[in-house]
Amino acid sequence: MIERLEALLKEAEQSIPSAADLKTVEESRVKYLGKSGLVTEILKGLSQVPAEMRPQIGKVSNEVKNRIAQLLEKKKEELESKGALDLPAGWDPTLPGRTLPAGKMHPLTSVQKEICDIFRSFGFDLAEGPDVETDYYNFLALNFPPDHPARDAQDTFYLQNEILMRTHTSPIQIRVMEKQKPPFKFVAPGRVYRNEAIDATHHHIFHQVEGFLVDRGVHFGHLKGILDSFIKKLFGSKVQTRFRPSFFPFTEPSAEMDISCVFCEGKGCRICKHSGWVEMMGCGMIDPAVFTNCGIDPEKWTGFAFGMGVERIALFKYDIDDIRLFYQNDLRFLKQF
Ligand code: PHE
Repeated sequence: MIERLEALLKEAEQSIPSAADLKTVEESRVKYLGKSGLVTEILKGLSQVPAEMRPQIGKVSNEVKNRIAQLLEKKKEELESKGALDLPAGWDPTLPGRTLPAGKMHPLTSVQKEICDIFRSFGFDLAEGPDVETDYYNFLALNFPPDHPARDAQDTFYLQNEILMRTHTSPIQIRVMEKQKPPFKFVAPGRVYRNEAIDATHHHIFHQVEGFLVDRGVHFGHLKGILDSFIKKLFGSKVQTRFRPSFFPFTEPSAEMDISCVFCEGKGCRICKHSGWVEMMGCGMIDPAVFTNCGIDPEKWTGFAFGMGVERIALFKYDIDDIRLFYQNDLRFLKQF
Protein backbone atom coordinates (compact mmCIF):
# COMPACT_ATOMS: atom_id res chain seq x y z
CA MET A 1 0.00 0.00 0.00
CA ILE A 2 2.89 2.30 0.82
CA GLU A 3 4.38 1.53 -2.57
CA ARG A 4 1.13 2.36 -4.29
CA LEU A 5 0.88 5.64 -2.40
CA GLU A 6 4.45 6.54 -3.34
CA ALA A 7 3.83 5.63 -6.98
CA LEU A 8 0.77 7.89 -6.91
CA LEU A 9 2.86 10.77 -5.54
CA LYS A 10 5.41 10.26 -8.33
CA GLU A 11 2.67 10.46 -10.89
CA ALA A 12 1.25 13.61 -9.29
CA GLU A 13 4.70 15.19 -9.20
CA GLN A 14 4.93 14.66 -12.92
CA SER A 15 1.48 15.72 -13.97
CA ILE A 16 0.56 18.67 -11.71
CA PRO A 17 3.45 21.03 -12.64
CA SER A 18 2.59 20.66 -16.31
CA ALA A 19 -1.06 21.74 -15.88
CA ALA A 20 -1.82 24.46 -18.41
CA ASP A 21 -4.66 26.23 -16.62
CA LEU A 22 -6.60 26.55 -13.38
CA LYS A 23 -9.29 24.21 -14.61
CA THR A 24 -6.78 21.38 -15.04
CA VAL A 25 -5.38 22.07 -11.54
CA GLU A 26 -8.85 21.73 -10.07
CA GLU A 27 -9.42 18.51 -12.01
CA SER A 28 -6.17 17.12 -10.59
CA ARG A 29 -7.27 18.03 -7.05
CA VAL A 30 -10.48 16.06 -7.51
CA LYS A 31 -8.60 13.19 -9.13
CA TYR A 32 -6.03 12.76 -6.32
CA LEU A 33 -7.55 14.25 -3.18
CA GLY A 34 -11.27 14.25 -3.82
CA LYS A 35 -13.76 12.21 -1.82
CA SER A 36 -13.58 9.39 -4.35
CA GLY A 37 -10.10 10.30 -5.50
CA LEU A 38 -7.11 8.00 -5.93
CA VAL A 39 -5.69 8.42 -2.38
CA THR A 40 -9.00 7.47 -0.79
CA GLU A 41 -9.24 4.60 -3.24
CA ILE A 42 -5.91 3.18 -2.04
CA LEU A 43 -6.77 3.66 1.64
CA LYS A 44 -9.96 1.65 1.22
CA GLY A 45 -7.83 -1.47 1.71
CA LEU A 46 -6.63 -0.29 5.14
CA SER A 47 -8.98 -2.57 7.09
CA GLN A 48 -7.27 -5.63 5.64
CA VAL A 49 -3.83 -4.47 6.72
CA PRO A 50 -2.39 -5.86 10.00
CA ALA A 51 -2.98 -3.38 12.84
CA GLU A 52 0.71 -2.77 13.59
CA MET A 53 1.32 -1.58 10.00
CA ARG A 54 -1.51 0.92 10.00
CA PRO A 55 0.23 3.88 11.75
CA GLN A 56 3.03 3.73 9.21
CA ILE A 57 0.59 3.72 6.31
CA GLY A 58 -1.36 6.56 7.91
CA LYS A 59 1.82 8.59 8.18
CA VAL A 60 2.83 8.00 4.55
CA SER A 61 -0.66 8.71 3.26
CA ASN A 62 -0.74 12.03 5.16
CA GLU A 63 2.63 12.95 3.73
CA VAL A 64 1.50 12.07 0.21
CA LYS A 65 -1.71 14.08 0.65
CA ASN A 66 0.14 17.12 1.98
CA ARG A 67 2.70 16.96 -0.75
CA ILE A 68 0.07 16.75 -3.49
CA ALA A 69 -1.86 19.62 -1.86
CA GLN A 70 1.33 21.69 -1.89
CA LEU A 71 1.97 20.92 -5.53
CA LEU A 72 -1.57 21.95 -6.40
CA GLU A 73 -1.34 25.17 -4.39
CA LYS A 74 1.97 26.11 -5.94
CA LYS A 75 0.72 25.50 -9.46
CA LYS A 76 -2.44 27.46 -8.76
CA GLU A 77 -0.50 30.50 -7.50
CA GLU A 78 1.83 30.31 -10.47
CA LEU A 79 -1.03 30.27 -12.97
CA GLU A 80 -2.92 33.05 -11.20
CA SER A 81 0.03 35.42 -11.08
CA LYS A 82 0.88 34.66 -14.67
CA GLY A 83 -2.68 35.39 -15.78
CA ALA A 84 -2.65 38.81 -14.11
CA LEU A 85 0.78 39.94 -15.22
CA ASP A 86 1.70 38.19 -18.41
CA LEU A 87 3.93 41.04 -19.51
CA PRO A 88 6.35 41.20 -22.39
CA ALA A 89 9.97 41.86 -21.47
CA GLY A 90 10.77 45.52 -20.99
CA TRP A 91 7.19 46.48 -20.31
CA ASP A 92 6.86 49.08 -17.58
CA PRO A 93 3.36 48.87 -16.13
CA THR A 94 3.84 52.17 -14.27
CA LEU A 95 4.07 54.19 -17.50
CA PRO A 96 0.98 56.27 -18.31
CA GLY A 97 -1.23 54.78 -21.04
CA ARG A 98 -1.04 55.92 -24.63
CA THR A 99 -4.09 57.90 -25.76
CA LEU A 100 -5.85 56.48 -28.78
CA PRO A 101 -6.69 58.92 -31.58
CA ALA A 102 -10.29 59.92 -30.89
CA GLY A 103 -12.78 59.54 -33.71
CA LYS A 104 -15.25 62.34 -34.36
CA MET A 105 -18.33 63.15 -36.31
CA HIS A 106 -18.13 63.77 -40.04
CA PRO A 107 -18.85 67.46 -40.73
CA LEU A 108 -22.04 66.54 -42.62
CA THR A 109 -23.27 64.42 -39.72
CA SER A 110 -22.60 67.19 -37.24
CA VAL A 111 -24.30 69.86 -39.40
CA GLN A 112 -27.30 67.55 -39.89
CA LYS A 113 -27.44 67.00 -36.16
CA GLU A 114 -27.16 70.72 -35.46
CA ILE A 115 -30.08 71.43 -37.84
CA CYS A 116 -32.25 68.74 -36.25
CA ASP A 117 -31.30 69.82 -32.73
CA ILE A 118 -32.45 73.39 -33.40
CA PHE A 119 -35.84 72.14 -34.63
CA ARG A 120 -36.07 69.74 -31.71
CA SER A 121 -35.55 72.73 -29.43
CA PHE A 122 -38.66 74.19 -31.16
CA GLY A 123 -40.59 71.03 -30.26
CA PHE A 124 -40.27 69.11 -33.54
CA ASP A 125 -40.00 65.32 -33.48
CA LEU A 126 -37.73 63.23 -35.68
CA ALA A 127 -38.99 61.02 -38.55
CA GLU A 128 -37.22 58.81 -41.07
CA GLY A 129 -38.07 57.03 -44.28
CA PRO A 130 -36.48 54.55 -46.70
CA ASP A 131 -33.86 55.55 -49.31
CA VAL A 132 -35.49 53.23 -51.85
CA GLU A 133 -38.94 54.64 -52.58
CA THR A 134 -41.86 54.02 -54.82
CA ASP A 135 -43.06 56.43 -57.46
CA TYR A 136 -46.16 56.91 -55.32
CA TYR A 137 -44.37 58.33 -52.26
CA ASN A 138 -41.65 60.21 -54.11
CA PHE A 139 -43.94 61.77 -56.72
CA LEU A 140 -47.58 60.86 -57.08
CA ALA A 141 -48.76 61.42 -53.51
CA LEU A 142 -46.78 64.68 -53.52
CA ASN A 143 -49.00 65.90 -56.32
CA PHE A 144 -46.57 65.29 -59.20
CA PRO A 145 -48.97 63.94 -61.83
CA PRO A 146 -47.60 61.26 -64.21
CA ASP A 147 -45.74 62.93 -67.09
CA HIS A 148 -45.58 66.23 -65.23
CA PRO A 149 -42.45 68.14 -66.30
CA ALA A 150 -41.54 68.75 -62.65
CA ARG A 151 -40.46 65.10 -62.50
CA ASP A 152 -37.73 65.83 -65.03
CA ALA A 153 -36.24 68.45 -62.75
CA GLN A 154 -35.33 65.67 -60.33
CA ASP A 155 -33.19 63.39 -62.46
CA THR A 156 -34.27 60.14 -60.94
CA PHE A 157 -32.34 56.91 -60.53
CA TYR A 158 -34.85 54.17 -61.28
CA LEU A 159 -34.22 50.66 -59.95
CA GLN A 160 -37.26 49.13 -61.60
CA ASN A 161 -40.48 50.42 -62.97
CA GLU A 162 -42.05 52.52 -60.16
CA ILE A 163 -39.15 51.79 -57.75
CA LEU A 164 -36.53 54.48 -57.40
CA MET A 165 -33.93 56.10 -55.16
CA ARG A 166 -35.71 58.98 -53.43
CA THR A 167 -34.86 62.32 -55.01
CA HIS A 168 -35.85 64.31 -51.92
CA THR A 169 -36.92 63.75 -48.31
CA SER A 170 -40.49 64.96 -48.99
CA PRO A 171 -41.87 61.36 -49.28
CA ILE A 172 -41.33 61.17 -45.50
CA GLN A 173 -44.12 63.76 -45.15
CA ILE A 174 -46.50 61.34 -46.87
CA ARG A 175 -45.35 58.33 -44.86
CA VAL A 176 -45.92 60.14 -41.56
CA MET A 177 -49.17 61.85 -42.54
CA GLU A 178 -50.88 58.73 -43.89
CA LYS A 179 -50.11 56.74 -40.72
CA GLN A 180 -50.64 59.29 -37.96
CA LYS A 181 -53.27 61.83 -37.02
CA PRO A 182 -52.59 65.60 -37.10
CA PRO A 183 -51.26 67.82 -35.57
CA PHE A 184 -47.74 67.11 -36.88
CA LYS A 185 -44.41 68.73 -36.12
CA PHE A 186 -41.53 66.78 -37.63
CA VAL A 187 -38.03 67.10 -39.03
CA ALA A 188 -36.79 64.28 -41.22
CA PRO A 189 -33.14 64.03 -42.24
CA GLY A 190 -31.96 61.69 -44.96
CA ARG A 191 -29.78 60.89 -47.93
CA VAL A 192 -31.18 61.66 -51.37
CA TYR A 193 -30.14 60.67 -54.89
CA ARG A 194 -30.17 62.45 -58.23
CA ASN A 195 -28.68 61.47 -61.53
CA GLU A 196 -26.54 64.58 -61.89
CA ALA A 197 -23.01 65.17 -63.10
CA ILE A 198 -20.64 65.72 -60.19
CA ASP A 199 -19.00 69.13 -59.82
CA ALA A 200 -18.02 71.52 -57.03
CA THR A 201 -21.63 72.13 -56.03
CA HIS A 202 -23.43 68.96 -57.19
CA HIS A 203 -23.21 65.34 -56.21
CA HIS A 204 -25.47 62.44 -57.10
CA ILE A 205 -25.80 61.58 -53.42
CA PHE A 206 -26.46 64.34 -50.94
CA HIS A 207 -28.44 65.04 -47.78
CA GLN A 208 -31.58 66.95 -46.95
CA VAL A 209 -33.50 67.82 -43.85
CA GLU A 210 -37.24 67.99 -44.42
CA GLY A 211 -39.56 69.69 -41.97
CA PHE A 212 -43.31 70.05 -41.72
CA LEU A 213 -45.83 71.40 -39.28
CA VAL A 214 -49.57 70.79 -39.51
CA ASP A 215 -52.19 72.12 -37.12
CA ARG A 216 -55.38 74.16 -37.13
CA GLY A 217 -54.96 77.70 -38.41
CA VAL A 218 -51.31 77.45 -39.49
CA HIS A 219 -50.42 80.16 -42.00
CA PHE A 220 -47.47 81.51 -43.95
CA GLY A 221 -46.49 83.83 -41.08
CA HIS A 222 -45.77 80.77 -38.92
CA LEU A 223 -43.56 79.36 -41.66
CA LYS A 224 -41.60 82.62 -41.91
CA GLY A 225 -41.28 82.91 -38.13
CA ILE A 226 -39.99 79.37 -37.59
CA LEU A 227 -37.51 79.47 -40.48
CA ASP A 228 -36.22 82.92 -39.54
CA SER A 229 -35.65 81.77 -35.92
CA PHE A 230 -33.94 78.64 -37.22
CA ILE A 231 -31.54 80.60 -39.44
CA LYS A 232 -30.69 83.00 -36.62
CA LYS A 233 -29.85 80.08 -34.34
CA LEU A 234 -27.76 78.42 -37.03
CA PHE A 235 -25.85 81.40 -38.44
CA GLY A 236 -26.27 84.11 -35.79
CA SER A 237 -28.83 86.79 -35.03
CA LYS A 238 -27.53 89.31 -37.61
CA VAL A 239 -28.44 87.10 -40.58
CA GLN A 240 -31.59 88.24 -42.46
CA THR A 241 -34.06 86.08 -44.35
CA ARG A 242 -36.28 86.80 -47.34
CA PHE A 243 -38.86 84.73 -49.20
CA ARG A 244 -39.27 84.69 -52.99
CA PRO A 245 -42.17 83.08 -54.84
CA SER A 246 -41.32 79.66 -56.28
CA PHE A 247 -42.99 76.45 -57.36
CA PHE A 248 -43.23 72.95 -55.91
CA PRO A 249 -46.13 70.63 -56.83
CA PHE A 250 -46.73 69.77 -53.15
CA THR A 251 -46.84 73.30 -51.72
CA GLU A 252 -49.09 76.24 -52.58
CA PRO A 253 -47.98 78.95 -52.29
CA SER A 254 -44.34 77.91 -52.58
CA ALA A 255 -41.27 79.95 -51.78
CA GLU A 256 -37.53 79.93 -51.88
CA MET A 257 -35.94 81.27 -48.72
CA ASP A 258 -32.74 83.30 -49.09
CA ILE A 259 -30.47 84.46 -46.31
CA SER A 260 -28.21 87.50 -46.28
CA CYS A 261 -24.74 86.34 -47.29
CA VAL A 262 -22.90 85.04 -44.23
CA PHE A 263 -19.51 85.92 -45.72
CA CYS A 264 -19.97 89.59 -46.64
CA GLU A 265 -22.93 90.27 -44.32
CA GLY A 266 -25.00 91.24 -47.34
CA LYS A 267 -22.53 93.71 -48.83
CA GLY A 268 -21.89 91.55 -51.90
CA CYS A 269 -19.03 89.16 -52.58
CA ARG A 270 -17.89 86.31 -54.81
CA ILE A 271 -19.94 83.71 -52.89
CA CYS A 272 -23.27 85.57 -53.19
CA LYS A 273 -22.40 86.70 -56.71
CA HIS A 274 -22.49 90.29 -55.44
CA SER A 275 -26.21 90.11 -54.67
CA GLY A 276 -25.85 90.04 -50.88
CA TRP A 277 -28.22 87.03 -50.69
CA VAL A 278 -27.81 83.27 -51.00
CA GLU A 279 -30.53 80.68 -51.57
CA MET A 280 -31.14 78.45 -48.55
CA MET A 281 -34.17 76.22 -48.96
CA GLY A 282 -37.50 75.51 -50.59
CA CYS A 283 -40.67 75.82 -48.58
CA GLY A 284 -44.39 76.53 -48.76
CA MET A 285 -47.86 75.79 -47.46
CA ILE A 286 -48.76 72.12 -47.91
CA ASP A 287 -51.03 71.74 -50.95
CA PRO A 288 -54.58 70.61 -50.06
CA ALA A 289 -54.21 67.79 -52.63
CA VAL A 290 -51.38 66.32 -50.54
CA PHE A 291 -53.56 66.33 -47.43
CA THR A 292 -56.36 64.62 -49.35
CA ASN A 293 -53.91 61.94 -50.57
CA CYS A 294 -53.08 61.20 -46.91
CA GLY A 295 -56.70 61.09 -45.75
CA ILE A 296 -56.46 64.45 -43.93
CA ASP A 297 -59.26 67.01 -44.27
CA PRO A 298 -57.72 70.18 -45.81
CA GLU A 299 -60.71 72.20 -44.59
CA LYS A 300 -59.70 71.48 -41.00
CA TRP A 301 -55.92 71.36 -41.18
CA THR A 302 -53.27 73.57 -42.70
CA GLY A 303 -49.52 73.36 -42.53
CA PHE A 304 -46.19 74.23 -44.02
CA ALA A 305 -43.19 72.23 -45.20
CA PHE A 306 -39.60 73.03 -46.00
CA GLY A 307 -36.59 71.15 -47.27
CA MET A 308 -32.94 72.14 -47.11
CA GLY A 309 -29.66 70.69 -48.38
CA VAL A 310 -27.23 69.73 -45.61
CA GLU A 311 -24.14 70.03 -47.87
CA ARG A 312 -25.12 73.53 -48.89
CA ILE A 313 -25.45 74.63 -45.29
CA ALA A 314 -22.15 72.95 -44.38
CA LEU A 315 -20.42 74.82 -47.26
CA PHE A 316 -21.64 78.11 -45.81
CA LYS A 317 -20.94 77.20 -42.22
CA TYR A 318 -17.37 76.11 -42.84
CA ASP A 319 -16.50 78.26 -45.87
CA ILE A 320 -15.80 75.25 -48.09
CA ASP A 321 -15.93 75.71 -51.85
CA ASP A 322 -16.14 72.12 -53.08
CA ILE A 323 -18.84 69.64 -52.06
CA ARG A 324 -16.68 66.69 -53.23
CA LEU A 325 -14.41 67.17 -50.21
CA PHE A 326 -17.18 65.77 -48.03
CA TYR A 327 -17.04 62.37 -49.72
CA GLN A 328 -13.34 61.81 -50.26
CA ASN A 329 -12.56 60.84 -46.66
CA ASP A 330 -9.26 62.67 -46.82
CA LEU A 331 -8.08 62.90 -43.21
CA ARG A 332 -6.28 66.19 -43.90
CA PHE A 333 -9.72 67.64 -44.62
CA LEU A 334 -11.71 65.79 -41.96
CA LYS A 335 -9.28 66.58 -39.14
CA GLN A 336 -10.00 70.28 -39.50
CA PHE A 337 -13.47 69.93 -37.94
N1 PHE B 1 -38.37 68.63 -51.76
C1 PHE B 1 -37.96 69.91 -52.29
C2 PHE B 1 -36.65 69.72 -53.07
O1 PHE B 1 -35.99 68.73 -52.91
C3 PHE B 1 -37.77 70.93 -51.20
C4 PHE B 1 -39.02 71.28 -50.49
C5 PHE B 1 -39.42 70.60 -49.36
C6 PHE B 1 -39.84 72.31 -50.96
C7 PHE B 1 -40.58 70.93 -48.70
C8 PHE B 1 -40.98 72.68 -50.31
C9 PHE B 1 -41.35 71.98 -49.20
O2 PHE B 1 -36.27 70.56 -53.85
